[in-house]
Amino acid sequence: MSSMQHPDNDLTINPSGNESIRDVMDRFTGRRNFIKGSLATATFASLGGFSLESLANGAYTGSPSPTGGIGFTGVPANIAPMTDGITVPSGYTARVLIAWGDAIGKTGPDANTHWNPATAMTTARQLTTWGAHNDGMHLFPFPGTGAAGIANDRGLLVSNHEYVDPGLVAHTTTYGTDVITKAMVDAQIAGHGVSVIEVRKVGGEMKVQRPSAFARRITGATPCKVSGPAAGHALLKTAADPSGTTVLGTLNNCANGYTPWGTYLTCEENFNGYFGTTAAKLAAQPLTALENRYGMAAAGFGYRWHEADPRFDFRDTPNEPNRFGWVVEIDPWNPTAVPVKRTALGRFKHEGAWTSVGADNKVAVYMGDDERNDYMYKFVCAKKMDTKNRAANRDLLDSGTLYVARFNADGSGQWLPLVWGQNGLTAENGFADQGEVVIKARQAADRLGATMMDRPEWVAVHPVTREVYLTLTNNNRRGTTPASSNKIDGTTVAASARPPVDATNPRRDNRYGHILRWTETGGDVGATTFQWDIFVECGDKLNANAHLQGNIIGDDLGAPDGLWFDKDGRLWIQTDQVGNASGDFVNIGGNAMFCADPATRQITRFLTSPRNCEVTGVTSTPDGKVMFVNIQHPGEDWSGSFTSNSTWPDSGFNGPTTQSGNAVAKPRSATIVITKDDGGVIGT
Ligand code: FEO
Ligand code: CA
Ligand code: CA
Repeated sequence: MSSMQHPDNDLTINPSGNESIRDVMDRFTGRRNFIKGSLATATFASLGGFSLESLANGAYTGSPSPTGGIGFTGVPANIAPMTDGITVPSGYTARVLIAWGDAIGKTGPDANTHWNPATAMTTARQLTTWGAHNDGMHLFPFPGTGAAGIANDRGLLVSNHEYVDPGLVAHTTTYGTDVITKAMVDAQIAGHGVSVIEVRKVGGEMKVQRPSAFARRITGATPCKVSGPAAGHALLKTAADPSGTTVLGTLNNCANGYTPWGTYLTCEENFNGYFGTTAAKLAAQPLTALENRYGMAAAGFGYRWHEADPRFDFRDTPNEPNRFGWVVEIDPWNPTAVPVKRTALGRFKHEGAWTSVGADNKVAVYMGDDERNDYMYKFVCAKKMDTKNRAANRDLLDSGTLYVARFNADGSGQWLPLVWGQNGLTAENGFADQGEVVIKARQAADRLGATMMDRPEWVAVHPVTREVYLTLTNNNRRGTTPASSNKIDGTTVAASARPPVDATNPRRDNRYGHILRWTETGGDVGATTFQWDIFVECGDKLNANAHLQGNIIGDDLGAPDGLWFDKDGRLWIQTDQVGNASGDFVNIGGNAMFCADPATRQITRFLTSPRNCEVTGVTSTPDGKVMFVNIQHPGEDWSGSFTSNSTWPDSGFNGPTTQSGNAVAKPRSATIVITKDDGGVIGT
């Protein structure tokens, strides 16, 4: 890697005299050159930036057959009264790696300073500690030493922090009526975004490396560059940024993705919730069609940031919401690299961004817009990936074609291009240029007649076959009356339509969701047609309503959200439903993670979670022997006391935490490490 491309990489990793970041990158480049592009790039793409090296050295243990099989005995559902901790199968161990407020190991005096959860979180403390509400994540392994190729004992773990619980941040049980200060808002903004930590195996156990020169926080206030067709667009300009090219921060970082060139993709989902305004201002200037389509409302989601910071008052700063809802690319190997909002990928409530690389090195990115009745998208890069020169891929995501999916009843489907000047995406219909098409992607997709979906969440691309799987988590408006559809002119209020059932979303009042899958025509990731089928309809076999029983072979689940293929082709499913095993989930229990066999459709419960949390985010070491899973918002919807629902993880149920020995002050989102006691591959 030349110094011109990475001018700030000559940092020392740690005081122990190990190699510099530049050394690491140089070796990356050398290994990449060594490969000569002879290996299955789909597998390469599925495993992250350095996996090509592992394949070259025989570390890939997956068979050409698309399944690794399920070798563990499932755990029982966590039904009420729930166990307030994580349970994994016999022969496995789950322990806490890092939790909200724990030091990330940022070089400096606070490399080992953990937040005391019995106090309010401050901006300063949050900037050196793990953010709130961890969600999507990915492990970028280091190159291995010697001939080993790729490291299973050292990597950069990069995680999203989707949102915050304002009361837990401010240490107040009365946030809804408190006077909101700028300091309170700033501390919450700092809890969002992304964390980069270095993890290393020490004494056989994966631990956070403190200090590490790679450790970094990116927050809702970190300057991000805007690139692609919306950069500098009039709709992105504000008084603070008249150029429309630099946004402060990234927000609501839900799920994620990564590129085969070793960068991380963080995705901005429910950004609308942070913005608000006063009733008087809204009365003077009612919501526009654009604001309605993206769910803007005077009260937002109750964060109340606009009361202390005019950036978040969408009548004071009307274009600020347009600067969120993007996919943001981050280079975890360069701690000073500016995150880039890649606007070519469209603006919507991005769940995640999952790459698939063709045999010809063509790159596609699959993206769901997680709202009831919204759409499934694909971006195809104009240029092919350069497997020999990492820097050549730096701006690959700036040029290409954004498509939205139409699913036909006969099992076929089309990718419809969101290209200015085509199919009514013209100035007469409110799209002056391609920048406006991507900023108003939902409305552009409305005009094209995309298929209204039951909340598209995560995508997983099979590591061998490139088959694409998609979770559709639920839709309580599907099949309800009076039937209505998103209007072609883009004037629909977000999530307000009542679409009839269709072949792809076949159940009315779809409370439990389903998983769809498709293959691109000819195996070409850039194809404009595909063939789809439904992998599974989720449900509860004991539900009195036949249409809610689902067709699961194995353990019942509902509200599938996180989805991930391991190296052997096991499909892991994480759920995000009511976390207290009540209502529709009395039999299914709390949230959980399941392992599915794509060939047999067997689904087996692998992990159950603490009370009132969601399970979201999963990655592993290249050998599949250390798995990382994120547990988000344990104890949510507490009332009276912070711990009224959960005391995890500081209860110690899954091993010691940085707060062991202190009274449990608050439940905290955390990352856990799962290992097999015999040292084997997770899932076997
Ligand atoms: Fe943040 Fe769609 O889950
Ligand atoms: Ca999610
Ligand atoms: Ca979700």
